[in-house]
Amino acid sequence: MKRVLRFSSTFRCISSSSTARVSPCRPALSLYYRAGLLSSPYCTKWSTDSTAMDLSNMRKKYKGDAECFEEDQLVSLDPIKQFGEWFDQATKCPEIGEANAMCIATATKDGRPSARMVLLKGYSNEGFRFFTNYESRKGNELESNPHACLVFYWEPLNRQIRIEGTVERIPYQSSCEYFHSRPKSSQIGAVVSRQSTVIPNREYIRQKNAELEEKYKDSEVPMPDYWGGYMVKPSLIEFWQGQTNRLHDRIVFTKLKDGVSELGEMQHLAEGGWVYHRLAP
Ligand SMILES: Cc1cc2nc3c(=O)[nH]c(=O)nc-3n(C[C@H](O)[C@H](O)[C@H](O)COP(=O)(O)O)c2cc1C
Repeated sequence: MKRVLRFSSTFRCISSSSTARVSPCRPALSLYYRAGLLSSPYCTKWSTDSTAMDLSNMRKKYKGDAECFEEDQLVSLDPIKQFGEWFDQATKCPEIGEANAMCIATATKDGRPSARMVLLKGYSNEGFRFFTNYESRKGNELESNPHACLVFYWEPLNRQIRIEGTVERIPYQSSCEYFHSRPKSSQIGAVVSRQSTVIPNREYIRQKNAELEEKYKDSEVPMPDYWGGYMVKPSLIEFWQGQTNRLHDRIVFTKLKDGVSELGEMQHLAEGGWVYHRLAP
């Protein structure tokens, strides 16, 4: 990295751009802007910090007010069904590569957050299911603090869904069934990788993978006990529809708490033990 950041190597990067691979050169673009070799579409002086990149002009048009998301456009007052509607639309949108990719935020017991992407592998009235290594960073955090937040962002649709809830391991048998439904190479990958632990180099994992491919070439790969599924049981689901004038729509469903029978101010009764309200964008 240091080598790329030196001006001479940066310049080499520009002059050999036809042959160089694009990715190693890209991080140095900000240097060209600062050196005055290229004019940045975003660069205005906003900080005395010489490493600062101003992105304040980076803005995209969302939907027009005519396409706003009103309460009467909810396909259902059951937020799981509404999720299903938006999810189906996302899966049918050709510009969305992985509609089931979601960010999951977890936190340590003392509240230090961490977030990463995982794949949603099922949803129902019970919750939202994903699979991982129980001994990974997220696994450890979930074991000590069983609360998580999921975020989907479907950029071509200008939509975001936020889900908050408690997290539980799914039954061992369900994890096993899913594990063995995956391609054998993925099963071996799950065994090979003690996710989130430090390893010496790539060769280490490549060699372990080869050994296990040989070991299980004629037999079933046993599911490791450190791997399986979690279910996020939602207590809040927010549907966000972006609008060009920044008057974004936010409709939030929350689970009616046990014993509470009265609705809060500007709160409306939904279905399946849920209530909903609108939030300012
Ligand atoms: C699109 C995408 C999908 C991913 N899906 C999963 C997944 O389903 N399960 C998983 O354990 N990691 C998945 N990963 C990798 C995680 O983001 C992460 O690197 C890994 O789980 C380790 O996270 P942790 O150290 O915070 O526990 C995915 C990454 C991306 C970019």
